[in-house]
Amino acid sequence: ATLTLEEVFQDKIDNEIRIEPKDWMPEAYRQTLIRQISQHAHSEIIGMLPEGNWITRAPSLKRKAILLAKVQDEAGHGLYLYAAAETLGISRDEMYDQLHSGKAKYSSIFNYPTLTWADIGAVGWLVDGAAIMNQVPLCRNSYGPYARAMVRVCKEESFHQRQGFESLLVLSKGSPAQKRMLQEAINRWWWPSVMMFGPSDDASPHSAQSMKWKIKRFSNDELRQKFVDICAEQVKILGCTLPDPDLKWNEATGHYDFGEINWKEFWEVVSGNGPCNKQRLDARRNAWDEGQWVRDAASAHAAKRKQRMAT
Ligand code: ACO
Repeated sequence: ATLTLEEVFQDKIDNEIRIEPKDWMPEAYRQTLIRQISQHAHSEIIGMLPEGNWITRAPSLKRKAILLAKVQDEAGHGLYLYAAAETLGISRDEMYDQLHSGKAKYSSIFNYPTLTWADIGAVGWLVDGAAIMNQVPLCRNSYGPYARAMVRVCKEESFHQRQGFESLLVLSKGSPAQKRMLQEAINRWWWPSVMMFGPSDDASPHSAQSMKWKIKRFSNDELRQKFVDICAEQVKILGCTLPDPDLKWNEATGHYDFGEINWKEFWEVVSGNGPCNKQRLDARRNAWDEGQWVRDAASAHAAKRKQRMAT
């Protein structure tokens, strides 16, 4: 019997053969990837805002240089990811439009404010730490362009995570006020970081299909548990605590038990009602509008050059 296109496709996935842009793929696979990759790209771009906010206020030249490099990396990640999504047949303008019109999602985490310098370290340690936990398995996802982009992204994210932890380590050895600022930043960022992994497995509509297609290799809850286990140990090195009275090592499971996640807060933030959603989208829309003259000038220049070459 001859195999259907769909069977050939699933057979490749089952045998760890990457799907490439010109290969046949089910429409739903294409749409799932466009959704996930474009949301991921938007997250990188929106993610520049809470940190860019501190570049002018970094406490030393060294910290400023590190933060500048990190924020620039996020821009690069966003651009790679938009390029990866374009291979699936969506244009960059369409993706921008989805973001600016509020139709596209981006990570909930970037709708929280960075109130003190310690928040920048906490973002590196916790937010980039959670991002790596989710993104390392994405280096093995079934769609070639996305998987390859993630390799470099993960290398850079791991530098981001380390610089964040190191800057917190310095605060942890500082004055009582610095130690207090550190603990308060951890208190603010812990739960939103735990929420980054998305809804629990039983409330995650896309997980089963994405696992079958090997877009996802681990479930939301599996990755969340790994993250909690690692952070529960790392926080001790900082001489701090995680703001969860239910956090407790469980000998029987070999994992940390942790408290109930505030899913109401999560869905509020995802649906546009977080502390900074409006501010973040306004900043992106303004940047887009204010950059219109640059795009117009570049297009006019390209058109003139083309005409000159033709004559
Ligand atoms: N913030 C905003 N929306 C979220 C979040 C979150 N933290 N988690 C889940 N959602 C959304 C999903 O996008 C989906 O909405 P949609 O159907 O409108 O697209 C809905 O909640 C249901 O969730 P799931 O069924 O679990 O969705 P999915 O299988 O896509 O899993 C996940 C979500 C884990 C975030 C996945 O999309 C993923 O791995 N994305 C790539 C990584 C990424 O985007 N990271 C961004 C933050 S890291 C950084 O940029 C530094």
